[in-house]
Amino acid sequence: MPPISPARPVDRDDDQRGESAPEDGYGALLRDAYAAGPRRGAHLQIIERDDGFVSIEDAYRYFTRPDEWIAGERRAVALASGRALDVGCGAGRHMLALTGDREVIGIDPSPGAVAVARAQGLDARIGTATDPGDLGTFDTLLMLGGNLGLLGSREHAPVVLDSLARLARPGARLLAIGHDPHEASAPEHCAYHDRNADRGRLPGQVRMRVRYKTWTSDWFDRLLLSPDELRTLLAGSAWTLREATYSPNTAGFYLAEMTRAETPATAPATC
Ligand SMILES: C[S@@+](CC[C@H](N)C(=O)[O-])C[C@H]1O[C@@H](n2cnc3c(N)ncnc32)[C@H](O)[C@@H]1O
Repeated sequence: MPPISPARPVDRDDDQRGESAPEDGYGALLRDAYAAGPRRGAHLQIIERDDGFVSIEDAYRYFTRPDEWIAGERRAVALASGRALDVGCGAGRHMLALTGDREVIGIDPSPGAVAVARAQGLDARIGTATDPGDLGTFDTLLMLGGNLGLLGSREHAPVVLDSLARLARPGARLLAIGHDPHEASAPEHCAYHDRNADRGRLPGQVRMRVRYKTWTSDWFDRLLLSPDELRTLLAGSAWTLREATYSPNTAGFYLAEMTRAETPATAPATC
């Protein structure tokens, strides 16, 4: 789940190593769950928010089948067409469901995640949304499992959106699962969103780190956004939000369907 280290260039040889790097606790979690045979409740990581709120995530989630997914993820996989890139593919559960003759590549900064995806026969490579490597261009980009959050913050989002636009063919689709923070009603979450707004951040900018066994990741940001906030962030980018569909019974998760402009924005004429 966390970036391996946002400031460090991606080491593309990492995926050749047999074990998880010291900072790749998330990769170790996936490796352990895969080696044991994924079972609900068997491998857990702690997610710690910077206000001290903690929650637990079950690694089983990363190995679920389509009938266990939220509706938006099933729809995203059904909509995917042509050459497809899964950005932040994790262990590759969505890639496994993208059947047919099409080429599907996954990128993820976690060497452990990439190793598990490869062990499942997938074409997964080390890379990030802003440092994807030389992959060519795609008809469909996927950011599932809440990966719209990789936009990170109001300031970081344009960098990510530009990088994704370079990976996208004209008219390509970006299908992303977002999480609307304004659907939360628990006082601890509302207080956190208010605190962000007081600091000039978007309410849903969540600073967190994850822990597994003795691993503790660096702090990193994930951006929870309403469709309206997303629309605002997209202004001036190559992307247009076509549709946002909330998945039932998910406390605010939605599928954002975006398309890349057919032609690059033309620079104003100068004399
Ligand atoms: C919540 S998990 C979702 C994994 C997968 N999409 C799924 O739903 O099973 C987030 C994934 O994004 C990856 N990730 C973190 N930072 C990233 C970045 N900057 N670019 C691409 N992927 C990133 C993590 O390693 C992790 O596998």
